[in-house]
Amino acid sequence: MEKILITGAAGQLGVELTNALISKYGANNILASDINAKSAEKFQSIKFIPLDATDTKRIAEIVASEHITQIYHLAAILSAKGEDNPLFTWELNMKSLLGVLEAAKNYNLKVFWPSSIAVFGKDTPRENTPQNPPAIPSTVYGISKQAGEQWCNYYAEKFNVDIRSVRYPGLISYSAPPGGGTTDYAVEIFYEAKEKNEYNCFLKADTRLPMMYMPDAVRAAIELMSAPASRIKTRTSYNVAGVSFTPDELTKELKGHLPEFKISYTPDFRQKIADSWPTSINDQVAKTEWEWTPKYNLARITEDMLKNIK
Ligand SMILES: NC(=O)c1ccc[n+]([C@@H]2O[C@H](COP(=O)([O-])OP(=O)(O)OC[C@H]3O[C@@H](n4cnc5c(N)ncnc54)[C@H](O)[C@@H]3O)[C@@H](O)[C@H]2O)c1
Repeated sequence: MEKILITGAAGQLGVELTNALISKYGANNILASDINAKSAEKFQSIKFIPLDATDTKRIAEIVASEHITQIYHLAAILSAKGEDNPLFTWELNMKSLLGVLEAAKNYNLKVFWPSSIAVFGKDTPRENTPQNPPAIPSTVYGISKQAGEQWCNYYAEKFNVDIRSVRYPGLISYSAPPGGGTTDYAVEIFYEAKEKNEYNCFLKADTRLPMMYMPDAVRAAIELMSAPASRIKTRTSYNVAGVSFTPDELTKELKGHLPEFKISYTPDFRQKIADSWPTSINDQVAKTEWEWTPKYNLARITEDMLKNIK
């Protein structure tokens, strides 16, 4: 029987992944945690523990006392927000991951840890970005994810830790707000479209970025974690593709539902980050090794977002 601890469970990905894990494993086997103690109210049916994921000792105590067998380690500071305080971002993202990897080594845990397309940089081929291209990241977040990938691979090779990871593109969802990434416009636009019928975008109209709808992102994590270990040959992190589009293309799709919708553009510092990221992702390795396939295209995402956002 699996017993699963989730760190950073109150975030954009955590809330939905936690619910999916409850459905798969049962409420008694899922333990949600987050540094934000108030987020306990998001988890009515399961046990919630306030946990600073950089507290390595506390992670080990919880793993031992709760008989944890798997950790989904989601706590992190994201790309745009991370630039406000680079050293703190590095400290949080790295220290928490190393604490989780140590616990995994000592207690024989299976780990899911998301990386990001932020590991890529200006020297990376931007179109159809391959699994292992040159990559000099442009943000401290990207540096932390790239170093994190190497640490995951090291713990897998050296200590046989069963760690699995995907490089998520920008995630689009309606249950919890995004936490400060460069792709957040693709969520904000739906709220503003519904509320005000207009949106001022912080990226240029033709900025093509890889994105993924949350149900696909959650399924990617759970399918990867469920795949037989013998099929998982990549222990850094897998490229996974969803759908790539520009703000202009999303606007055209939105206008199909809200003909009066208007967009304006005021690019800010996030434009430079976006310009250093891929426009599309080649995920052939994930397809071959654990049969990854996305299900949501832009039309389906738009329809579902407009139907569900409050
Ligand atoms: N959302 C995306 O577009 C995206 C894309 C690629 C990768 N990812 C990765 O997915 C993971 C989850 O991202 P998200 O979008 O849910 O982020 P988020 O910012 O929405 O949520 C992060 C959560 O971590 C918590 N947290 C912050 N510091 C913490 C600490 N010290 N200890 C414990 N909890 C802490 C926050 O309170 C928050 O609830 C991250 O590792 C992120 O890098 C997300």
